[in-house]
Amino acid sequence: MEIESPVIVVKIGGSTLGAGDTSFADIAALQRDGARPVVVHGGGPAITSWMAKLGVRAQFTRGLRVTDAPSLEIVVAVIGLINKRLVAELRSAGVDAVGISGVDGGLLRGTITDPELGFVAGAVEADVRVIEALAGAGCVPVVAPVAVSAQEPRQLLNVNADSAAGTLAAALAAQRLIFLTDVDGVLNADGRVIRRVPVDTGESLLRSGVVKGGMIPKLEACLAAARAGSRAAVINGTRPGALPAWLSGSLTGTAVG
Ligand SMILES: Nc1ncnc2c1ncn2[C@@H]1O[C@H](COP(=O)(O)OP(=O)(O)OP(=O)(O)O)[C@@H](O)[C@H]1O
Ligand SMILES: [Mg+2]
Repeated sequence: MEIESPVIVVKIGGSTLGAGDTSFADIAALQRDGARPVVVHGGGPAITSWMAKLGVRAQFTRGLRVTDAPSLEIVVAVIGLINKRLVAELRSAGVDAVGISGVDGGLLRGTITDPELGFVAGAVEADVRVIEALAGAGCVPVVAPVAVSAQEPRQLLNVNADSAAGTLAAALAAQRLIFLTDVDGVLNADGRVIRRVPVDTGESLLRSGVVKGGMIPKLEACLAAARAGSRAAVINGTRPGALPAWLSGSLTGTAVG
């Protein structure tokens, strides 16, 4: 019987892509080594800069973007642009990448849980058939975090990319969920990397107030995926070769679960 190749969900942070970043080549190598990578991306800085260009002020609550109707249009448009750029980068690195959003194939269905945040899906469920079809064809899906409303199927919703990655990892029974970000991992009050966050201490770490802003949805997603059986991690994607180094145990980062 053929052993199924492991699914590795990689979330690329908007903050990591720049000089020295080797994520695209690393993802290509991961696939050559027999894994099935699934890429999820955010759009943080690009969305904020487009909002400024268009005169719409970005607002955040607990690390989550507040999305009114005009912001939603910008979010969806800019996330689409980033998706195409990432697909082009991955394809030029030799990966048969296919860009989709959570709207495509009914991948992500969301529910507004906090109306204060506007058109933001707080709870998301995944129907991963489109990912399985693409991965089965040897493609690497590149997922843009936009969902349709589970209640209003014509309504698009913004989804935090970290939450989307966590939901996908759980739904795919992924072997791993790896967050590439711009810090070395989840840091403690002294600024040192917490090497391991066991699932049962994650909630108290979140309540402690040490984890702030954009790290909150990441740790929450890691905990959700870890509870579903994935090995989750937060590592520094700005370090060249971060992905293979983490997988071989030579990089310091935070393992969750
Ligand atoms: N305890 C903590 N440990 C590590 N980082 C933390 C902590 N608390 C807050 N942060 C912040 O979280 C940031 C990472 O989240 P952020 O949302 O900025 O990046 P990203 O999700 O990788 O990229 P993007 O949101 O642009 O796609 C760090 O740069 C840091 O400033
Ligand atoms: Mg973020």
